[in-house]
Amino acid sequence: MNNPKVKRLGILTGGGDCPGLNAVIRAVAKTAFFRYGIEVLGIMDGFGGLIENRCALLTDRDVSGILHRGGTILGTTNRDNPFRYPVGEKDGQIVWGDVSDRAITNLRDMGVDVLIVVGGDGSLHIAHELYKKGVPAIGIPKTIDNDLSATDFTFGFDTALNTATDAIDKLHTTAESHHRMMILEVMGRNAGWIALHSGLAGGADVILIPEIPFTYDAVCAKISARRQAGKKFSIMVVAEGAELPGGELVYQDKVAGNPLLDKLGGVAGVVAQIIQEKSGVETRVTVLGHLQRGGTPTPFDRILGTRFGVKAVELAMNGEFGKMACLHGDLVDSVPLKAAVSEQKRVNPHGELVRAAKSVGVSFGDE
Ligand code: F6P
Repeated sequence: MNNPKVKRLGILTGGGDCPGLNAVIRAVAKTAFFRYGIEVLGIMDGFGGLIENRCALLTDRDVSGILHRGGTILGTTNRDNPFRYPVGEKDGQIVWGDVSDRAITNLRDMGVDVLIVVGGDGSLHIAHELYKKGVPAIGIPKTIDNDLSATDFTFGFDTALNTATDAIDKLHTTAESHHRMMILEVMGRNAGWIALHSGLAGGADVILIPEIPFTYDAVCAKISARRQAGKKFSIMVVAEGAELPGGELVYQDKVAGNPLLDKLGGVAGVVAQIIQEKSGVETRVTVLGHLQRGGTPTPFDRILGTRFGVKAVELAMNGEFGKMACLHGDLVDSVPLKAAVSEQKRVNPHGELVRAAKSVGVSFGDE
C-alpha cells in the first residue's frame, strides 16, 4: 500500500556501530526510491544530527557500493539523547536539559514524515519516547550484543561472532605449542551471547558469562582435569560483563552519572592472574575489543540488515508507527517499540545452548 502522505523518510543510526548498518541504509533508500518513489533524508551522527540539524538527502549514488562496508555512512554516537542533552555549564558542571521539542521541530523543518531509528536498546528507547510525543517513528534493531528480547537476532552479532571465533582458532594453535592457558575477552555488555556462541564454535574449554556465577576452584578443576587427560593447554572465553566471584564487575572506565557510558573491560586480566597463581599454568590474555564491531559484515548480517530495512519502509508506508522490525524464526515481522525496549535478552543458564555446551565438556566455572 502506498501512503500518499509519506513523501520523505528520515533515517539515523544511533549507539555503537556494528557491521550491517550500511546494508540497512541501502535497503531503506533503494526501497523508498524504486518501490515507492519517495525521498530519504540521512540524519548525521545519530540523535546529535537531529538536535543540531545536520542532515542530507540521500541519492542512489550515496547508497551504491556500501553493502559490504562495515560502519555507517551516516555516522553515529552513543552520547546524544534529546531527553538528556548538555545545555550549558554551571559551577564547572554540565547542565542537562530536555531538548526533545527542538528535535521534533527540526524533524518537521526537515520535512521528514516518518523517522527510522536504527539502534540498540538506548536509541530504540529514545525512538519510543519520541513516538509517545507524536513522532511517527519506526525502529530497526542493531547490536553485536544480540541482547534485544523482541527479536531472535540483531544484525552485527553474526559478524562479531565470526571475528571472535576466528580469534579463538588462532589462539588454539599457539596455546597448544606453548602448553598455555589462553583467555579471550569478548564484548557483549551484561549478556553472554558473544562469549557463549563463539566459545561453542571455537571449542573453548571454559566459558565465563554474566548469567552464570563462577568460582576459581571450578575453573582450576577443569584445567587440571584436562592436564591429567594429557591436554596441556586450555582455552577460555570470558564475557566482558562476567562477574568476579563476589559479584564485582571490572571496568576500564566509569563515566560519572551515566551507567550507559560506563566501559566494561579488563575482567580477563583479573581472572588470568588468579588462575595462573592457583593452577600454576602459564596464562595469556587477549582482549578482542572493537575488532568485534568492525570489518566486513557476514552474508547473514547483510541479508538480515536488508530485510529489516525493507520491512521498516513497508511499516512506514502502511502507517504502522511505533513499531520495530524483528526476526521471529525465519520470518521478518514487527513488534511494538514498547515491547522491544522493555526487556533485555540474556542467556538462560538452564537453556538448551548451555546444556549443549556442558554436554560436550565446556565448564562455566559453576560446578
Ligand atoms: O553495545 C555494543 C558494545 O560494543 C558492547 O559490547 C560494549 O560493551 C560497548 O558497546 C562498547 O562501547 P564503546 O564503543 O562506547 O566503548
